[in-house]
Amino acid sequence: MKKQTQMYYGADYNPEQWSKEVILEDMVLMKEAGVNYVSINIFGWVSIQPNETTFDFDFLDWLIDLLYKNDIMIDLANGTASPPAWLVHKYPDMMPMTVHGNRLVHGSRQHYCPTSDVYRQYAAALSSEVAKRYHDHPGIVMWHINNEYTCHIHECYCDRCRSRFQQWLKEKYQTIATLNSAWSTTFWSQSYGDWHEIYLPEEMPTFKNPAQQLDYARFISAMNLEIYQIEKAAIAAYSKEIPFMTNLMGLHKYVDGFKWATEMDVVSWNSYPNPFNEMPYPQFLANDLTRSLKKKPFLIMEQAPSAVNWRAVNGAKKAGQMRLWSYEAIAHGSDGIMFFQWRQSKGGAEKFHSAVVPHGEPKESRVFKESCQFGNELKKLQAVVGTTFIADAAIVFDWENWWALELDAKPRKLKYIHQLSRLYEALSGLNLTVDFVHPDEDISGYSFVIAPNLYSASSSFGKKIEEYVTRGGIFLTNFFSGIVNEHDQVYLGGYPGLFKDVLGLTVEEFYPLKDSMHGQISFDGQTFTTHLWEEVIHLDHATALAHFNNDHLPGVPAITSNQYGDGYAYYIGTELAPADLAIVLTKIIQDNDLHKATEEFIEGTTPVSVTCRKGKDYSLLFLLNHTDSTHQIVLKKKGYSILDETNVTELEVDAKNVQIIKFSHTSDHK
Ligand code: GAL
Repeated sequence: MKKQTQMYYGADYNPEQWSKEVILEDMVLMKEAGVNYVSINIFGWVSIQPNETTFDFDFLDWLIDLLYKNDIMIDLANGTASPPAWLVHKYPDMMPMTVHGNRLVHGSRQHYCPTSDVYRQYAAALSSEVAKRYHDHPGIVMWHINNEYTCHIHECYCDRCRSRFQQWLKEKYQTIATLNSAWSTTFWSQSYGDWHEIYLPEEMPTFKNPAQQLDYARFISAMNLEIYQIEKAAIAAYSKEIPFMTNLMGLHKYVDGFKWATEMDVVSWNSYPNPFNEMPYPQFLANDLTRSLKKKPFLIMEQAPSAVNWRAVNGAKKAGQMRLWSYEAIAHGSDGIMFFQWRQSKGGAEKFHSAVVPHGEPKESRVFKESCQFGNELKKLQAVVGTTFIADAAIVFDWENWWALELDAKPRKLKYIHQLSRLYEALSGLNLTVDFVHPDEDISGYSFVIAPNLYSASSSFGKKIEEYVTRGGIFLTNFFSGIVNEHDQVYLGGYPGLFKDVLGLTVEEFYPLKDSMHGQISFDGQTFTTHLWEEVIHLDHATALAHFNNDHLPGVPAITSNQYGDGYAYYIGTELAPADLAIVLTKIIQDNDLHKATEEFIEGTTPVSVTCRKGKDYSLLFLLNHTDSTHQIVLKKKGYSILDETNVTELEVDAKNVQIIKFSHTSDHK
């Protein structure tokens, strides 16, 4: 398998939109910007297959050779992201159908039904042709399959999807009785006698069966994964040495990233934080989540050099913001930074999306100049490539829980990503670094595991946590966790059924708060405001660390700790502001003598963000200053500043700036 040896830096490149003269000018500009990697042919279908019987690779042959001659590595897409008009015209029923029964038409992109055999066959045929022609071209370093699956189409209600759903359910449950039991169909007289009676969860009078909705979410992710697998297999028939990936979308709800990642050699995501938000924690955490899918370095496959075109107000990235946020990804395990897109389109829906080469004169563009400066700086980061991110703790993350938690007929203001993001903000402030783990993963290597708002989890996960804590692990969970199984059926006997024993408590009743309502809790002599949620907690063996201090729940435990075997299980029965949550986390960390990997390198604590990646015989410390003032860092041993190219023992990190310090394990200098 071809191995990455340098930081990738580049962009989506859509030269079908340009003349050969412009493309030749691009080669010069790419050199200037330090570009060494481009993704091509993502939207190339109609250019290389202008009609059913013609494949025309002349332009792509020329382009691939040109990029190769210019030392630009190629991420070659199979070109299936936007089916051509002739295909849709011939087979209109390959198009997705809305919940109101309307078939979508050609004229945008990603216009295919997730179960369409026509789309699958033609996408496979195109993939074969592309692979046959280019599998041994030395310029190709990656296969880019399709583009952002389910970005636009994450439901389809056509008859074909309905019968495929019935078939998928039959494969899953085997008997209709098993499905009836899993779907709790005795409720509202919903029982089925035959698979053909089952509908997709389309328009219904009121709340739909939640287990049916949950299976539909699994089905959509699975059908799209099938498409990926079909496209990949068509290429793999010709190509063994080039890694496979598709560009994921970080915190995107409709693709179960952990499942998909098993089919990829490299994981990547497209990162579009809103520049108006100085600290976009959801995107910051998506870096860790994407890396965690394979516990290996990942790639930022797309980001905007400045503004996007698809928000109501498309804020521009300020000077330095693109660089700092790119380093945020690198500091958390990325081995490459790519933009959407290289050259700003003249026409089409994305002409006002920023690009490295703008509509105006590139030499006069701040964005182009910053992209050049950053691209050339990345050449110093050779030592970063392939290094392992070191995590201090694990956060349990499950797409299926996300789906289940946010189904109808429950507290609808409780949003998984919002809660995770607040936790992540608290942990980031403490510089406690995290991996995300799937519930089925081995957690025994982590000394601290957090399962935020894990509403739905299997009984085997509950057992795993009991064993983990028994053996000395530290576990933290919070409100509305451990409530239902994978079929959205409540664990009976008092909430949170799955974690009751390990937490040593029972929750009798929930007390959600409306927006204007807040309560208080007292914790270690401090008073914190509660948000969104309170509940009636009864202690079995647990100890209360904080109590609700309200008229309706006076003196009721709010935060608890329970010794279980050799470990401790903690519970927080309300939503806290990140700063308050950080105080609770600090106590857990101190009481259990938990350590951070970065303590080996720096003295004391700092508002600068500190992370560590380890190579074979060296460690890299990333210091990112997101604040508005300079901060002094004192190192515990001598290191080498990769960006300044000097040895250091003490250094200043300027506001919005970055330092990367290399510590050799074998000698005390570079
Ligand atoms: C991504 C997509 C790109 C481009 C970009 C604009 O979602 O993959 O093709 O549309 O958004 O922000």
